[in-house]
Amino acid sequence: SPSDPDLVERARAAKEKLGDKVFVLGHHYQRDEVIQFADVTGDSFKLARDAAARPEAEYIVFCGVHFMAESADILTSDDQKVVLPDLAAGCSMADMATAEQVAECWDVLTEAGIAEQVVPVSYMNSSADIKAFTGKHGGTICTSSNAKRALDWAFEQGEKVLFLPDQHLGRNTAVRDMGMSLDDCVVYNPHKPNGGLTAEELRAAKMILWRGHCSVHGRFSLDSVNDVRARIPGVNVLVHPECRHEVVAAADYVGSTEYIIKALEAAPAGSKWAIGTELNLVRRLANRFAPEGKEIVFLDRTVCFCSTMNRIDLPHLVWALESLAEGNLVNRIEVDKETEAFAKLALERMLALP
Ligand code: 13P
Ligand code: SF4
Repeated sequence: SPSDPDLVERARAAKEKLGDKVFVLGHHYQRDEVIQFADVTGDSFKLARDAAARPEAEYIVFCGVHFMAESADILTSDDQKVVLPDLAAGCSMADMATAEQVAECWDVLTEAGIAEQVVPVSYMNSSADIKAFTGKHGGTICTSSNAKRALDWAFEQGEKVLFLPDQHLGRNTAVRDMGMSLDDCVVYNPHKPNGGLTAEELRAAKMILWRGHCSVHGRFSLDSVNDVRARIPGVNVLVHPECRHEVVAAADYVGSTEYIIKALEAAPAGSKWAIGTELNLVRRLANRFAPEGKEIVFLDRTVCFCSTMNRIDLPHLVWALESLAEGNLVNRIEVDKETEAFAKLALERMLALP
């Protein structure tokens, strides 16, 4: 627990013993008890960019979820070992697109005669297999902080985009940032024959959205926005683009976790904010900015933590650091060479976006 001074001391001692051999990365959704030990914190983009920042570190301890650790392994050298303190820290959204399902989808697009016009754009929140598929088919990865730039790039390469696996980020970016209409988007359901779409529907669409979503952000609703506006007059509603379209359309501001932090840093004293993203981050921001007179509340009090992000707790971090300090490599995340090569192509296209 955060108040267990023994565990805090053990984590500190193991980290000190490891010295420059270890580099700890922490996503903004991590618990306070964990984030205090991160050398770098960030959103998914910043963590992908910074993963390779310490080439001398033998171990990269990734406090986040599985797809982030895979991406760090892909983007770092072969002798750097990436460790995920709890292997059960997955992401339900990433699990919504499997390699088999996506290969089947590509067959459907080929069958409809449109595969050559389609550029895959995959959200960072996807497995290394999906990133490899994306690289193989000339596509790019994106995160919530560069989705518009990724789509701009993709529409220079082809006429249509297959957006995997978060339908909401895909739709929100297309409609809110690119001026497309909801009718330009169709949803491909991997559990239905032909994705539940006719060849005509596929040919008419600009954005083919995979039917995936985030189980945390999907729970914010238009009612959450209306209720908080009624409760707190003058409140600014700031949400993550993984929220449903009607929530994003009703919000005042939309952005990644890093964007949310920057917006609150820049906010004037006395301003009021309702934040629609994961609870660990919102609580931390509410505590951090309360002394400056900024009132920060959670957009919907019935929405809870990301349960898989929360699996990385102080006991798991202590266990990982102490094991490494004793020379035992535990919980290594290693992407196989062939997958890595194609996934890296897609990730590097993202890192090269203007
Ligand atoms: P960002 O930190 O990139 O905004 O992503 C949020 C998220 O859901 C990560 O799982
Ligand atoms: Fe996945 Fe949502 Fe959790 Fe992010 S917040 S790790 S998208 S389930």
